[in-house]
Amino acid sequence: MQIIKVKNYEALSQEAAKIVGKLLISKPDAILGLATGSTPVGMYQNLVKMNENHELSFKAVKTYNLDEYCDLPRSHAQSYYTFMHENLFNHVDILEKNVHLPHAEGADLAKQCAEYNKALNNVKIDLQVLGIGGNGHIGFNEPGTPFSNETFIVELTEKTREDNKRFFASLEEVPHRAMTMGIKNILAAKKILLLASGKNKAPAIKELVFGNVSEKFPASALKDHGNVIVIIDEDAASLL
Ligand code: GLP
Repeated sequence: MQIIKVKNYEALSQEAAKIVGKLLISKPDAILGLATGSTPVGMYQNLVKMNENHELSFKAVKTYNLDEYCDLPRSHAQSYYTFMHENLFNHVDILEKNVHLPHAEGADLAKQCAEYNKALNNVKIDLQVLGIGGNGHIGFNEPGTPFSNETFIVELTEKTREDNKRFFASLEEVPHRAMTMGIKNILAAKKILLLASGKNKAPAIKELVFGNVSEKFPASALKDHGNVIVIIDEDAASLL
C-alpha cells in the first residue's frame, strides 16, 4: 500500500483527481469503479473542472458504482444514483449508457445482484475509488463479511446507519439494507485508490496501516492487493 499524506481535504481532493485524471488522459476508455459518501465529493468537483477545461473527457469512460441503498427509489434524494448524478454525471460529458449502479429496488434483489455481478465480471475495472467507514467498511462490506463475497445484499450495522443518518431527516429513514460489490469484486480492480479525511477516520486508518488482515476489518483485505494508493489528510493520519 502506498500512502500519500496531504495537508487537508482540499489537497486530498486535488491529489485524487490528479490520479484519476492521469488515467483518463492515458486511457480515455478507462473503466472506473466509483464511490459515494462525503469524502470523494471534492475529487468529483475537481474532475468536473478538468472536464470543463477540456483537460480530459468522460465520453468513452465506463463507470461502475460500489453500492446502493435498498428500498429507496433511484429518484430519492439520498439514493446513490441521485448522488452520482448530482456530484459528477450531470456535469461531465459521460454517456448515460456507460453509467452503471446496482439496481437495489425491486422484488427480485437476488436476481438484480446476480445481474450486477455478471456485469462486473465481464469488465476489468482500471481504478476503483474507495472511501472507508468508521468501522473499516469498504463499499457496504461490514465487519465480518467474508472476503470471498461477490455482489450481495447486506444488512447495515447500526454504526453505519448512525454514521449515515446525517444525510436523512432521521435515523428511521436510513435504509436497513444495501446492495454492494463484495470484497472479491473490489479486489479484482487493477488499481485501488482509498481516500480518508478527518479525525473521525483516524482510528480506521490506524487499524488499516498497523492491523492484521482480518474479516473483522474489511479494509484490511486491501493489504493483499498489490496496487493500492491511500490518500489521507493530516487529521486522518493523526494516529499514525
Ligand atoms: C458509506 C458508503 C461508503 C463510504 C462510507 C464513508 O457507507 N457506502 O462507500 O466509503 O460511507 O462515507 P464518508 O466518505 O461520508 O465518510
